[in-house]
Amino acid sequence: MVKRPKITVVGSINMDLVTSTDLFPAQGETVRGNDFQTIPGGKGANQAVASARLGADVKMIGCVGDDAFGDELLDNLRTENIAVDNVARIKDTRSGLANIVLSEKDNRIIIISGANAHVTPDYIEKTKAAILDSDYVLIQFEIPKETIEYCIHMCAEHDIPIIVNPAPAFGLAQDSWHKASYITPNQTEWQQLFNNNWNEKLIVTRGEQGVSFIEKSKEKHISSHPVNVVDTTGAGDTFNGALAVALAEGKSIEESVKFANAAAALSIGKLGAQKGMPTKEQVEQFILKD
Ligand code: RIB
Repeated sequence: MVKRPKITVVGSINMDLVTSTDLFPAQGETVRGNDFQTIPGGKGANQAVASARLGADVKMIGCVGDDAFGDELLDNLRTENIAVDNVARIKDTRSGLANIVLSEKDNRIIIISGANAHVTPDYIEKTKAAILDSDYVLIQFEIPKETIEYCIHMCAEHDIPIIVNPAPAFGLAQDSWHKASYITPNQTEWQQLFNNNWNEKLIVTRGEQGVSFIEKSKEKHISSHPVNVVDTTGAGDTFNGALAVALAEGKSIEESVKFANAAAALSIGKLGAQKGMPTKEQVEQFILKD
């Protein structure tokens, strides 16, 4: 039996305010929406849920506010069997929010950091024991830049592999990129941050065009799966959560990318970032059928 991998996710926890509409409004235009829901999200929390559904022991490091959304976001993580001992409640602060408009089989998102801004290097230092007790660490870019760099350096110093998902994109110091184990931008982030240049750490997700990466100095490409699209929100997070699980289980890069690509394809069949995230059995069956 494969040992349950220990994954620690450092990152954002948001409440997603999701509006569905037939057409995105143009600038200055008002359009009628079809539906509105509040759904737990945030790139960090989404990646944690993806890894947990796929059978990992997951610890979340992050912050929520002392508002009603904070209660709901914590309950949601507990329901997904994610350890929340390292999720702090920040007094007199709102939880992170994401304003999401769904239309035309795509999304547009505005995030408000709220409590996520309190995930500081000092806070990471306090949660160091959890980070050091991990097979893989996952981090994304909805928390302060200095925290991301601090965490990458901490992992490198202690030989803990870390997947850096630079979403939404901003630059890091060169030595931070060098110390990451894998960097997982989408196509746009790859262009913005790396000017479309390759290095061995990059795994680039390209939506309908699949996933590209380098293995043994050769560029490789895995095609996407043709699936029914309900909501692409969280597909990248599912990919990252699944990638961490597969790599931690000792799969090769190619096998891990295939597994993560299949998990991401399954995730877009339901509304909400986390709802469609599959179990390990679902991913394995899907790969077999394909
Ligand atoms: O990647 C999807 C996530 O981005 C959403 O859940 C939203 O919270 C934003 O952080």
